[in-house]
Amino acid sequence: MIYLDYAATSWPKAPEVTDAMLAFLEKAGGNPGRSGHSLSIAAGRAIYETREALAELVNLDDPLRVIFTLNATEALNLVLMGLLKPGARVLTSSIEHNSVMRPLRHLQASRGIDVATVHCDAQGRLDLGDLASKLNTPTQLVILTHASNVCGTILPVGKAAAMAHAAGALLAVDAAQTLGILPLDMRELGIDLLVFSGHKALGGPPGVGGLVLGDGFDPAQLEPLVRGGTGSRSEHEEQPTSLPDKYESGTPNGVGIAGLGAGVRMVLADGVAERRAHDCALCERLLQGIAELPNIRVYGPGRPDEQIGNIALTVAGQHVSEVGWQLDQREGILSRVGLHCAPAAHRTLGTFPEGCVRLSVGAATTAGDVDAAIAVLARISRS
Ligand SMILES: Cc1ncc(COP(=O)(O)O)c(C=O)c1O
Repeated sequence: MIYLDYAATSWPKAPEVTDAMLAFLEKAGGNPGRSGHSLSIAAGRAIYETREALAELVNLDDPLRVIFTLNATEALNLVLMGLLKPGARVLTSSIEHNSVMRPLRHLQASRGIDVATVHCDAQGRLDLGDLASKLNTPTQLVILTHASNVCGTILPVGKAAAMAHAAGALLAVDAAQTLGILPLDMRELGIDLLVFSGHKALGGPPGVGGLVLGDGFDPAQLEPLVRGGTGSRSEHEEQPTSLPDKYESGTPNGVGIAGLGAGVRMVLADGVAERRAHDCALCERLLQGIAELPNIRVYGPGRPDEQIGNIALTVAGQHVSEVGWQLDQREGILSRVGLHCAPAAHRTLGTFPEGCVRLSVGAATTAGDVDAAIAVLARISRS
């Protein structure tokens, strides 16, 4: 079996990750922040260590600004539901995931939010001129994916942050696809709110993601999504305002957060630049191999320096499901076909409504895996 579906989730998980999860259950199984006993303290420490590792990864001084959620989807809902007041205007790109678009469409209907879409070209590149002109109308928030989950195109979030700030808007970045493989220095890039997924490039287990609040972001602007017990300030029936408790009610997924901590420490040990170089080399190999095949069309920039290792393609005359089925059932190559929860991106790329086949590489992918995929695609494309 060859796993080329890293954009959906990373697999296999490193032994360090599963070891950390087992160790949490066996040695730190108390409820963090709730009781003063040793198991509770050990659980709290494991979770704090993950916050510290994530803060280091995004160059933030205060680990308490790292908020854990169930996944990136929940963190995106927290940002949009918690920030946008009735009538607010928000800008987003034309290649966003439904984790951004569905909450926005809901807020459009329920709170009268004005949602304007910034144009991306047919390769998924953001039109900065269009962003500039749309920022001429007062805007509260710009929310952008860091890289397309379909065709991998990287968006210029640093430039977008500068433009948003000059216009008095905040910038939120959906880094579900990129934290762990692209450098993400929140201070340097000027990101106010950064959403991440724990189970993709960070190598953690499913069931954990989060939101990082930038140094300059005032949490008074952001309402929590969920309120309840935090183990802190229990004498009050009102939600605490301290971080991260304001946004973390209920018993957290300590096992998952401990596993994520191990994944993030591995990224830090390898270096994001190393991970990115691995990703780029495989992406280039795949793109070059596919370029020599007949009947295959690749979507996106087609250049490793402009994208992450998500390759979107169609085979002329063959339904994407059929191609995916042949890759999997005949050859054991696991891809993802269809719309990838991103109909807007497919409309932009011109692949709506059928979608495309997406091959995505990751930490454990080898050059041999890529060559095997190219060989199978060669047979499919000629059949
Ligand atoms: C760009 C993007 N945003 C958000 C999400 C949602 O991530 P999660 O599965 O962690 O909720 C995904 C998942 O594929 C994604 O690719």
